[in-house]
Amino acid sequence: MIELIKKLPKAELHLHIEGSLEPELMFRLAKKNDVKIPYENIEDVRKAYNFTNLQTFLDIYYAGANVLLTKDDFYDLTWEYILKCVEDNVIHTEIFFDPQTHTERGVPFEAVITGIKEALADAKEKYGITSCIIMCFLRHLSQEDAFETLEQALAFKDDIIGVGLDSSELGNPPSKFKEVFKKAKEEGFKLVAHAGEEADFSYIYEALDLLNINRIDHGVQSIKSPELMQRLKDEQMPLTVCPNSNIELKVFETYKEHNIKELLDYGLNISVNSDDPAYFKGYVNQNFINLYENLPITEDDVITLVKNSFRSAFIDDELKEAYL
Ligand code: ADE
Ligand code: ZN
Repeated sequence: MIELIKKLPKAELHLHIEGSLEPELMFRLAKKNDVKIPYENIEDVRKAYNFTNLQTFLDIYYAGANVLLTKDDFYDLTWEYILKCVEDNVIHTEIFFDPQTHTERGVPFEAVITGIKEALADAKEKYGITSCIIMCFLRHLSQEDAFETLEQALAFKDDIIGVGLDSSELGNPPSKFKEVFKKAKEEGFKLVAHAGEEADFSYIYEALDLLNINRIDHGVQSIKSPELMQRLKDEQMPLTVCPNSNIELKVFETYKEHNIKELLDYGLNISVNSDDPAYFKGYVNQNFINLYENLPITEDDVITLVKNSFRSAFIDDELKEAYL
């Protein structure tokens, strides 16, 4: 099974590029940019990665992102992730970035997007890896802020395939961003949103009915509503599930309690993704391996999960067929 997992060409649809910042690069950039980080050494960092919920992670994740200042930093960050894709045989990836985390600190939007974009262009040239970029709005900030970010993104419309919604979920429901998602759709962006990660399934209904999203990020709380499960199945709405993340953030106490097998067996369109791999102990293959070691996941399940990720990717039908 582990050979099959490693060997299968995969797509990744839920990866925050800031969440792929490994401690080694964090230290290197902190030194180069003269940014203070609250750690003495790598061991200290690993010790700090002990989360009790989403917010305890986000506090550390945003502090880590402070070391990213220049276009080259974003290039290096993205390139290191690409090398992990090569290792894990990820041949297509759809990358989230959080512009507000950087523009708030005075880093130009252009430096962020250009660094990411240039690394992805090199990934295509050197390894044949295809990719798209999705810009996420931080949901703990206002809709007005999100509108400003959307305005800035319009100059880079050709580089950004979609918009998403991430950060602190509880208390920041999708309804808060209804208007900005409407505008993003009018501008031709694909739409995704984190929903039903920690918050209940009503957030998934809101993301579907008020934001008109094309994919749900996480969505594991849907299991609490039989009616929603039926709808997700009928619509074959993609759910980008991130098992390691759910364990590290205590959405499920143990791997054995993770509901991905139930969701899959019910017939939902589930894929496996790494979310913030530098913080959650592993990239996409490690997520599959952990599933296999803890749940009754079969080889057919692995193949279905991988096919679902290509099926749900924002790529044209021709490329999809080539990959499937
Ligand atoms: N930003 C980075 N990772 C996230 C997650 N798992 N949930 C919400 N926002 C995030
Ligand atoms: Zn995420």
